[in-house]
Amino acid sequence: MNTEYQKKIAAEKATNEIRPGMVVGLGTGSTVYYALLKIGTLVKDGLDIVGIPTSEGTEKIATAQGIPLSTLSTHPKIDLTIDGADEVALRLNLIKGGGAALVREKIIANASQRILIVVDESKCSQVLGTNFPLPVEIIPFGWEATQKAVNQFCGSSTLRGGEEQPLVTDNGNYILDCDFSPVGGITEPAKVEMALNNLPGVVENGIFVNRADKVIVGTASGIRSMEKDS
Ligand code: 5RP
Repeated sequence: MNTEYQKKIAAEKATNEIRPGMVVGLGTGSTVYYALLKIGTLVKDGLDIVGIPTSEGTEKIATAQGIPLSTLSTHPKIDLTIDGADEVALRLNLIKGGGAALVREKIIANASQRILIVVDESKCSQVLGTNFPLPVEIIPFGWEATQKAVNQFCGSSTLRGGEEQPLVTDNGNYILDCDFSPVGGITEPAKVEMALNNLPGVVENGIFVNRADKVIVGTASGIRSMEKDS
């Protein structure tokens, strides 16, 4: 089964946990896309839910699928969030932000009772940061100084989009993609998450520690699920 099919079966499986009346956090990315299509079909068939999108991109897709949307101001508690990840390591620690939505994704995660992560098998690793560079959202003002400070934690980082045309997030910020592989990955994710967020200029980083309740992995031989504390 190819990667696209693995994403689809994982995402569709996650939608089985949606119940009528739920407030559902809608993640961002090409895997969650399949969940949005499925949720759209369920809504057309009469499922009564509201979704809270994690990005402007997801908002557009969800609207096109006819999914009723709300905001965290109206619905501060989310029953279930379905989101993707760029890397899943031991203890279900995650790297997120490949789609530049990490700030809103972490805010939504924080407000969620239950979080399901959907990935294909290429996303799984032993040590976080060995499979994917860590995205760190920073404010544009003085970004070079912030990059210098961030680089003390990793081998090196690059400004997403390049200096001539940096990518600008939904929040008006830049992203640094930080390569932790020269330092053996992120062996103490909780510490690194906090330390990076403590640097002036850093808005948030893509390390998600102890947040996923379940990771649903689409593999070449079907679906494999990993539960928190299992
Ligand atoms: C966006 C994210 C995505 O969930 C992550 O990048 C996975 O995306 P995809 O399913 O396209 O691989 O964190 O900020």
